[in-house]
Amino acid sequence: MEVKPLHPIFAAELLGADLARAPGTELVATVEDAMARYGVLAIRDAEISDEQQKLFSRAFGPLEVPSRAKGAPDRPKGTRQFDPLIFYAGNLDHNGEIIPYGSEAGKLAQGAERFHTDSSFHVMPTKWSLLHGVETPPHAAGGDTWFVDARAAYDDLPDTMKTRIEHLIGVHDFWEGRRRAGLKGEITPQMRRIIPFPPAEHPLVRTMPYGRKALFVGGHCTGIVGMADDAARDLIEQLYAHATQEKYIYRHQWRRWDLVIWDNRCTMHAATPLLVDSYRRDMRRTTINESGPETSALDWMIAQGLVEA
Ligand code: OGA
Ligand code: MN
Repeated sequence: MEVKPLHPIFAAELLGADLARAPGTELVATVEDAMARYGVLAIRDAEISDEQQKLFSRAFGPLEVPSRAKGAPDRPKGTRQFDPLIFYAGNLDHNGEIIPYGSEAGKLAQGAERFHTDSSFHVMPTKWSLLHGVETPPHAAGGDTWFVDARAAYDDLPDTMKTRIEHLIGVHDFWEGRRRAGLKGEITPQMRRIIPFPPAEHPLVRTMPYGRKALFVGGHCTGIVGMADDAARDLIEQLYAHATQEKYIYRHQWRRWDLVIWDNRCTMHAATPLLVDSYRRDMRRTTINESGPETSALDWMIAQGLVEA
C-alpha cells in the first residue's frame, strides 16, 4: 500500500489497498494514520459492494444511519435497491433515473454546494464520511467535490482571533443552513415537522484526538450561543470566508470506484454542480460516529427526548 499527497497541506490518495477483503489491522492502521495526517483520503480502485463498504466503514466506528423524514412514505420497491444504512448523494432517484439539476426534487441537495460538515445539525459524536463513486461523470461535466483543511485554517488565524473564539459554542441548524445555502421560500412548520432537528451546539474550535485544533464553522453553523444574531452572523461569515480561501482547498476529481473518506471534525466539503443532466452520478455514503449506538440522528434525538416521537 502507498499513501501519496494530493495537495500541499492535506489530502492524500491510498493506492494498492484491497477493500474486497475483511479489513485487517494493517489496513485499518494505515487508514487511521493517513486520516490523522491528511484529513481526506481517496482510496483508489475500491471496486466493492455496499456490504463491503459497510463492513469497511464499521472497522472505524459505528454507522450513523441516515435519518428518514417523519411520515415519509415507504421507499418504492422499484428497480433500484436502496440500502437504509447508506446515504445517496448523487443525482439518481429511487428508480435510478437522473434527477434534473435545479428541479424541485433536487433542491434540498443543492445545500451541499456550500461548504459544510455532514450532520453537524445533530448531537452525536461525528467522525468520518466515506463516499463511494459507483458511477462518476466525465471530469468536464462537473461534479467535483471540494475540501477545506479547517486545521490549517485555524492555525493561520491571528492570536487575537484564536483567543476571541476559544470558548465560543456554535449553533447548527439544518433549515437555517439550507436557507443560507440559497434555498428559496419560507421554511414552513410543515417542513420543520418532516425534518425536525432542533438546533445543535458544538464548539467553534474542536480539538482532534491527536491534538491539532480545527475551525468548526461549516454551512449549518448559523449562530453562536449568547451572541446577538447579527454579531454571530458576521463572525461566522468572517471565519467561513477565511477557511474557504483558495490555499486551503483541495478539489477532488472523481475516478470511478474512488472511496473518499473525510474527517467531519476537521475538514469542510462542498459539492459542485453537474453542468449537464445527461450523466449519471451514483454516489453512496456511509457515515460513522466516534462512538455510540448505530442509529440515526433522528431516532437518537427521539430516544434522548429532544424531539417528539
Ligand atoms: C456528501 C456530499 C458532495 C458531492 O455526500 O455529504 O456533500 O460532491 N457530497 O457529492
Ligand atoms: Mn456533505
